[in-house]
Amino acid sequence: MYIKSTFGTIESSGLNMSFLLSCFLLTVLCRTTDALNSVAWYYGDAVPVQQLSKFEVAVVSPSSNLNPATVSGATKYFAYVSLGEVTSDLPYYRDVPKSWIVAGNDVWGSEVINISVPAYADFFATKVVGPLWTRGYRGFFLDTMDSYELYATTSAAQAKQKAGMVNVIKAIKARYPSASLIFNRGFEILPQVHDLVYAVAFESLYASWDNEAKIYKPVDAEERNDLLAEVRNSKQLYPNIPIISIEYCAPTNNVCQQNAITNVRAQGVIPYVADGLLMTMGRSV
Ligand SMILES: *[C@@H]1O[C@H](CO)[C@@H](O)[C@H](O)[C@H]1NC(C)=O
Repeated sequence: MYIKSTFGTIESSGLNMSFLLSCFLLTVLCRTTDALNSVAWYYGDAVPVQQLSKFEVAVVSPSSNLNPATVSGATKYFAYVSLGEVTSDLPYYRDVPKSWIVAGNDVWGSEVINISVPAYADFFATKVVGPLWTRGYRGFFLDTMDSYELYATTSAAQAKQKAGMVNVIKAIKARYPSASLIFNRGFEILPQVHDLVYAVAFESLYASWDNEAKIYKPVDAEERNDLLAEVRNSKQLYPNIPIISIEYCAPTNNVCQQNAITNVRAQGVIPYVADGLLMTMGRSV
């Protein structure tokens, strides 16, 4: 990770030749840049810092009791942020112009934002990320990156939303160059922003949660194959970007958890398994 952020810094100051040279001399070190092994998600109010200390990265809710400025230990705390949707409980909700809301997401009771609105990139960097940065968060998990598919159905409309999403990522990194970003999917914009991302996550390669029916269920082979195609493509084009799969199993279902972990690791993907709402402590081994 250290080398990875160094790469960004050196490259942006136009000295990529010297980086390439040192990378050549330190081939072994350079090859281990993606040695991320464990990431946890915990959205409960009382963050179990002791249990999360076993993980390299922990994604928490910004409304939790965690104080990122004072928490000690090696775990890097990331704040959950929603890129494509808003809910009325968010502190910045009243600042979102109503004209930016273009759909509802019935499954989660949230509102979907038109991310191609030109002012949205700056809004997101200043009003969403800004206050969290001030509180001490240096990492951000960008969720709902595929919500635009709920209202942008033609490829032309989707292209506009993807461009808007790229602008959001660039605006965050322009304002906070050392911010670490984990995407929830976003595979389709990696060609534009692969050098700005810390890791890519997605949900459910094997085990899923149906939030409407409130049930756990296995993932269809077809869905899994689509995701695996994205994984293979990303690994081939951007081998240094770690890929994480969040799997959902009932907290009491040890067999589901163990199988998901084994199967995800076998695909060269980092597993994290927890309950469907990520409100209990999960596991990656
Ligand atoms: C989204 O915003 C863009 C840019 O302002 C606009 O052209 C487009 O019509 C909007 N889409 C919807 C569905 O409102």
